[in-house]
Amino acid sequence: MTKPVRDMRKNLRLLARDAHDGGSPFRIARFAAPRHAEAIAPIEPIEPWASLGYPAGWLEKYLTGRDTALYRFALLRENESGDVATAGYMAVRFPWLVGPFLELLAIAPAHQGLGLGAFAVARLQQAAHLAERQLWTSVALHNPRAARFYERLGFAPTADVPDLLRPGFTERLLRYDART
Ligand SMILES: CC(C)(COP(=O)(O)OP(=O)(O)OC[C@H]1O[C@@H](n2cnc3c(N)ncnc32)[C@H](O)[C@@H]1OP(=O)(O)O)[C@@H](O)C(=O)NCCC(=O)NCCS
Repeated sequence: MTKPVRDMRKNLRLLARDAHDGGSPFRIARFAAPRHAEAIAPIEPIEPWASLGYPAGWLEKYLTGRDTALYRFALLRENESGDVATAGYMAVRFPWLVGPFLELLAIAPAHQGLGLGAFAVARLQQAAHLAERQLWTSVALHNPRAARFYERLGFAPTADVPDLLRPGFTERLLRYDART
C-alpha cells in the first residue's frame, strides 16, 4: 500500500512529473508560457465561459498572472504520429478552505471526449488520496454534461450557489472525499 504523503503541495508538484504512463497518450506538465499556449485561443470562447460573459483574454491572464496558491498545468495529448499537442489546462487552488479546489478544467474542443479530462482528474484524486484530503470543484448548472462527468468520477453535489459568478447563473459545489 502507498504510504500517505500528507503534504498536498508536494503531491501537486509531483502531478506534473509523475504523470507519464507508458501506454497512455496523455501527460500532465507544469504550465509554461509560451510553450503551452496553443490551446488558449480555442478554449477562451467556449461554454460555460461564453454564457458567463468572460472577456477576451481571460484564460491567458488566468494562466499567466501572479497567483502563488494556484497550481497550473498543461494537459498534453500525443497523437498516432507521436506529435504532442497542448490539449487543455487544469488549475488547482491550494490551500483552499478545507482541501484543494479544482478551479479550472478545460479541454480544447478538438480534444474533448477522448478521456483526457478523466485522466487529469484521476491523477488529482490520487494526489488527494495520498494526502487524505477532500477535493472540491464546481460546475455551472447550465453545463449538465460537465456535472455528469464529475459525478461519474465520484464527486457528489454538496450545494447550489446562486449568482456566484454572474447574476442569474448558479454554480454547483461538488466534493470528492479522499480522506478514507
Ligand atoms: C468537461 C471536460 C473537462 C471533460 O473532459 P474530456 O476530456 O472532454 O472528457 P472525457 O473524455 O474524459 O469524458 C467524456 C465526458 O466528458 C463530458 N464532456 C465531453 N465534452 C464536453 C463538453 N463540451 N462540455 C461539457 N462536458 C463535456 C461528458 O460528460 C462526456 O461524457 P458523455 O460523452 O457520456 O456525455 C471537457 O469536455 C471540457 O473542457 N469541456 C468544456 C469546458 C468544461 O465544461 N469544463 C468543466 C467545467 S468548468
